[in-house]
Amino acid sequence: QKHLLGIEQLRPDEITTVLDLADEYVDLNRRDIKHSDALTGLTQVNMFFENSTRTQASFELAGKRLGADVMNMAMQASSIKKGETLIDTAMTLNAMHPDLLVVRHPHSGAVDLLAQKVNCAVLNAGDGKHEHPTQALLDALTIRRAKGRLHRLNIAICGDVTHSRVARSNLILLGKMENRVRLIGPPTLVPASFAEFGAEIYEDMEEGLKDVDVVMMLRLQKERMDGGFIPSEREYYHRYGLDAAKLAHAKADAIVMHPGPMNRGVEIDGEIADDINRSVIQEQVEMGVAVRMAAMDLLARNLRAIRQYGETS
Ligand code: CP
Repeated sequence: QKHLLGIEQLRPDEITTVLDLADEYVDLNRRDIKHSDALTGLTQVNMFFENSTRTQASFELAGKRLGADVMNMAMQASSIKKGETLIDTAMTLNAMHPDLLVVRHPHSGAVDLLAQKVNCAVLNAGDGKHEHPTQALLDALTIRRAKGRLHRLNIAICGDVTHSRVARSNLILLGKMENRVRLIGPPTLVPASFAEFGAEIYEDMEEGLKDVDVVMMLRLQKERMDGGFIPSEREYYHRYGLDAAKLAHAKADAIVMHPGPMNRGVEIDGEIADDINRSVIQEQVEMGVAVRMAAMDLLARNLRAIRQYGETS
């Protein structure tokens, strides 16, 4: 692959290759000296048109640990504010010969469009409601390390699925790896059309959580609700917030995940989020750095091969 635009484009063996390399980077990141030279001599530019804590910080750390020259574009202070288009901005940066472009954008499809215009490898750091591939890969690595496998697991994704690129990328990845995925939430947030991904849909949280191995909670993405129906947080927490009583319906060793940012007391009880016996939320953050290192390392290898032998190599 030249770019990492979505899980849709990845085969199961390619997913496994990323996760296997990421496992090696987890070990490197736990050492005192965390450096490798996989990206030495390459330039990585991070362009975040939407806010981010985890994704931006981990891509920056990942690039620096692999020896890249990393530049974070301050998009709020860029000429986008003077009316320059996304494509003109990308072409301007392209003329400076970056090797890896990491892009987050509020519009679905914007990162794919940009990838068609530039000469370097592009990594999608989240585009609208479409995909967030590195999040799904880090979630997969977290699950594989916690459960010892990434197939034939029962996995519940709960909450605002409609507006979630995390849910979409996870649904595709977990399906490709032959897991059974349940989507839990009110019909306004989990449309029946998501059954086309092969998922089972539940409106009742306790019924949906019965005997699952993994519980993945999602934030209410109010910024994408466009004036549509926004549930009351109190009512939502009562029906869909993950607390000890609801979690008791999952398997006794079920893990709890959340991509962050979390809204405690809305989709998840703070005590559950902090319970080190159940919650792997901090592990997800740790895996984020390793997965982004692996993804950029593999794309850089492909980029070097393309530059040496051409696109068909
Ligand atoms: N999970 C995730 O994408 O978090 P950020 O928005 O903080 O990057």
